[in-house]
Amino acid sequence: MNTSKVSKLSLFPLTAEVDNKGHLCIGGCDVVDLAREFGTPLYLFDEFTLRSKCREFKDRFSKHYANILVIYASKAFLNRALALILKEEGLGLDVVSGGELSIAHSVGFPLDKVYFHGNNKTPEELKLALDWGIGRVVVDNLYELELLNSLTKEKDIRQDILLRITPGVDPHTHQYTTTGTLDSKFGFPLATGQAEEAVKQAMSASNLNLLGFHFHLGSPVSETKPYELAIELVLHFTREVSQKYGPHIDEFSIGGGFAIPSTLDSKEPTVDDYAKALAYKLKSFIPESGLDYPLLIIEPGRAIVGQAGIALYTAGAIKEIPKVRKYVCIDGGMTDNIRPALYGAKYEALVANKALEAEGDIVTIAGKLCESGDILVRNTNLASVQSGDIIAIPVCGAYSIPMSSNYNSLPRPAIVMVEKGKARLVRRRESYQDLMKLDVI
Ligand code: LLP
Repeated sequence: MNTSKVSKLSLFPLTAEVDNKGHLCIGGCDVVDLAREFGTPLYLFDEFTLRSKCREFKDRFSKHYANILVIYASKAFLNRALALILKEEGLGLDVVSGGELSIAHSVGFPLDKVYFHGNNKTPEELKLALDWGIGRVVVDNLYELELLNSLTKEKDIRQDILLRITPGVDPHTHQYTTTGTLDSKFGFPLATGQAEEAVKQAMSASNLNLLGFHFHLGSPVSETKPYELAIELVLHFTREVSQKYGPHIDEFSIGGGFAIPSTLDSKEPTVDDYAKALAYKLKSFIPESGLDYPLLIIEPGRAIVGQAGIALYTAGAIKEIPKVRKYVCIDGGMTDNIRPALYGAKYEALVANKALEAEGDIVTIAGKLCESGDILVRNTNLASVQSGDIIAIPVCGAYSIPMSSNYNSLPRPAIVMVEKGKARLVRRRESYQDLMKLDVI
C-alpha cells in the first residue's frame, strides 16, 4: 500500500484495516460485503470508535480538571441505537428539539443529564421537557426566560437553568456555523449589557434556579485560543454578576465545536490539546476570582461521531471530459451529505474494493441530484475507478444523516452499526412508500 493510502486509512474508524482481497474492513466486517447486503448509499458506524471517543473525552478532560460532565451534542447525529450507547458510556446529552428529546426519552436516557439548548424553543417543547423532568434548560433570550418561568409556575415546579452568553469571540470558522460573535441569533451578548440584564431577571424569576453559564463559539473550531478568550470573558462576567446579584455558579459550559481531521492535510488540536488549554485557563482564573470551581461541561458532537461514521456509495456513470475533468457519479450525494455544497466541506475517498491498488486516478465524485453543485469530493486521488466499484468516504459520521433530505424524492440511506465482525441494521433504508406515507389525497 502506498503512503497516502496508509494515512487515508487513519481517517477511517479506529478498527479500519484492509484484508488480503484488498477490501476495506471496519469493525471486523468487509464493507464491500456490507454494501452488497444492505445496498448503497449506506452509512456505517463503528461501535468501538464511538465508545473510544466517549471515553477519550471523559479521560482527557478529567485528567486536567477534576469535575467534568461530557454531554454529547445530539444534533451531530442521534438515533435510538446511538442514544443507548451514549447512555451506557455515562455521557449526558445536549438536545435542541422535542424530537431529539423524544429519542432520548424513548431509550430511558437519564433526563437529569439532558440539557435543552436552542434559540426558539416552542412552548410545547418546553412543556414536554418539564413534564419529563429535564435536567437543565439553557435559556437563550428574555422571551424564553419569561415563558419558562410562567410554565414552571403553572406546573408548580422549580427548574434549573443556565444562561447562554454570547461572548463576542470570533472562532474563525465558517460564517454559517459561527455563533459566539455579537451579531448572532444565539444567546445574551456580553457587550450590550443584555447578559447582565438576563442574570438580573433570572434571579428574580420565582420558579427558575440559575445554576450557571454556557457559551458555544461555533463549529468546527480548530484553535484553542478562541475558547481561552471566551472563558476569560465569561468568567470575568461571572465574578461581576456574582458579586452584584448573588447567584452561586455551579456549572460552566464551554459548548462544543472541537475540530477533527477529515482530510490528509488537516491539522487539528487533539482532545488532550483542547482539554489541557481550556482547563488551564479555567484553573488559573478561578482562585483569584473568588469563585468556587464549577462543574465544567463540554459538548462535543462531531468529535464523538465524526470518525466513527463512513459513507459507502456505488460508482455508476463515469464521464470523462478530455483535458477538463473526470466525473465519477455515485448513487447518493447532497441529499445524504449537504456539507460540501453548504459549507465547502472537504473529504477524502477510497475505492473500498481496491484498497491495495495504486492510486493515481484524479476524479471528482459527483452525486446523482439534479444540481451542478452536487459534488461530494473534488479532484481526489483514487485507484482506477470503474462502474460498480464501492466508494468509501471517511469522517461522515457527523452532520450528514441529520441534515439529509429527500430532494429529488431520494429515499434516505440505511445505517448499520459494526462491531467485532458483526453488523446490525440500526436504521432501515427509506422506501418509496415511506416517501408517500405522510401525503394526504
Ligand atoms: N453545543 C452547542 C450549543 C452547539 O450549537 C453545537 C453545534 C455543539 C455543542 C456541537 O458542536 P460540535 O462539537 O459538533 O462541533 N452543521 C454544521 C455544524 C453545526 C453545529 C451546530 N452546533 C456542520 O455540518 O459542520
